Amino acid sequence: MNFRLRVWRQRNPKTRGKLVAYEATDISANTSFLEMLDVVNERLLLRGEEPIAFDSDCREGICGTCALTINGEAHGPDHPGAACELYMRKFRDGDTIIVEPFRAKPFPLVKDLVVDRSALDRIVQAGGFISARAGSAPEANSILIPKPDIDLAMEAAACIGCGACAAACPNASAMLFTAAKVSHLALLPQGDPERTTRVLKMVRAMDAEGFGNCTNTYECEAVCPAEVSASFIAKLNREYGRATMRAGE
Ligand code: SF4
Ligand code: FES
Repeated sequence: MNFRLRVWRQRNPKTRGKLVAYEATDISANTSFLEMLDVVNERLLLRGEEPIAFDSDCREGICGTCALTINGEAHGPDHPGAACELYMRKFRDGDTIIVEPFRAKPFPLVKDLVVDRSALDRIVQAGGFISARAGSAPEANSILIPKPDIDLAMEAAACIGCGACAAACPNASAMLFTAAKVSHLALLPQGDPERTTRVLKMVRAMDAEGFGNCTNTYECEAVCPAEVSASFIAKLNREYGRATMRAGE
């Protein structure tokens, strides 16, 4: 297959960026999108040109590193799935494909398609953990948890922290991400002792990073590779309301 790429190139945050045209020729339909970029980069290197900078790690939809906007959609057109799970057979031969970084103010650009998403780490650092002794794995198994709670906690814990929800949202809201992190711990007895302080700290951190509010456009849910439901945002709001009352705020 042959494709025309238009790729965002930007040397660093201080310089102006622009879309640059590249040809991606003789690409197997079973090549992944990231492998296609690897092929383009190998050819650029052979010509002595600067390769396109992009992020990836696991390349199997687990780590959340491959933050790419493809033809205007966070992670591209094959939902649900991360950009690394997208294959070129999803496109038509001869297609023009526009590749851009995730765009949200709290994700400053580093280079080309690479953005700094450490704002999400700082939200987790504010409270997305259990500091009380939760015991070993066998001890955890001795704590009985209702099946519906376990299932819901697992759905929330599926979040891979990619940030597509914020990149797709017109308000650059990270509420789906924060909701997933708050909910999966709030649903489990091990997360209960810090339930009140956790949600207050994480929502404050989210606001301090400059993420916007949710206005129910559901773009986050549409692009989420882990299929985290927007209903968790309602749970986040309930958790936050409960916590502010308990904390007397
Ligand atoms: S909620 Fe979904 S889109 Fe948002 S960070 Fe988690 S996995 Fe990515
Ligand atoms: S590279 Fe890990 S999810 Fe895409």
